[in-house]
Amino acid sequence: MAERPFIVGNWKMNGTRAMLSEARAIDRGAQRLMKVEVALAPPHTLIHAVHREAEQIGVGAQDCHAEPDGAHTGDVSATMVADAGAKFVILGHSERRQDHGETSKLVRSKAQAVFDAGLKVILCCGETEETRDAGKAEAFVTRQLRDSLPTEVEQVGERLSVAYEPIWAIGTGRTPTVEDVAAMHNAIRALLVELYGEEDGAEIRILYGGSVKPDNAAELLAADNVGGALVGGASLTAESFLGIVIAAAELQDR
Ligand code: PGA
Repeated sequence: MAERPFIVGNWKMNGTRAMLSEARAIDRGAQRLMKVEVALAPPHTLIHAVHREAEQIGVGAQDCHAEPDGAHTGDVSATMVADAGAKFVILGHSERRQDHGETSKLVRSKAQAVFDAGLKVILCCGETEETRDAGKAEAFVTRQLRDSLPTEVEQVGERLSVAYEPIWAIGTGRTPTVEDVAAMHNAIRALLVELYGEEDGAEIRILYGGSVKPDNAAELLAADNVGGALVGGASLTAESFLGIVIAAAELQDR
């Protein structure tokens, strides 16, 4: 695992102001678990409120538009989420690729916009079950990343994280084996070194996402080249999310 694991909660389309108490509890927990970098990506409507409440955790957005401003009804730009307090943006999540037809080309231009706005990126990738069953998961994921990642990025090692999220593991309670996670993360690491060079390529954190829970976090986080987790369902309560953060902190003590 990376020197300081990165555990990120993706609230998806969940949460009204009533959920700010969970964010506060997560923040208090994170203050006691400083070995772990903890962050939350609430819906856009809560970014500013979570940012104001949070003393320790980072706050990010789940998406943004590729343009900085303009006539795009209903959209929000990287500059806007930054203004609300976001420090990073999750891009290319499979739910956006599926629900909104986002292509890797679009994801790449969004990533460029987020970097240009001075924010960090968590770029998601992952295969369908059919692709895995056909033995093509690594080829698919590395292609998807090649097409989604911008190539010219300053300080890419600290500003980019990649999240490997097999689509069939998201919200299903199923996870790949630890061996499969390690094999995929090693393949992603090799690609990042090829794209960004030895130093930056080695620094970029590769998160695992897909049905991470307090009881499976330790074994998934211990796998080769796993630098943290992107957590959906289990990030919605402080109790389960902090269970994952504690598992990551305990691994640091080993
Ligand atoms: P899950 O979602 O933890 O609910 O499986 C993960 C994600 O989609 O980021």
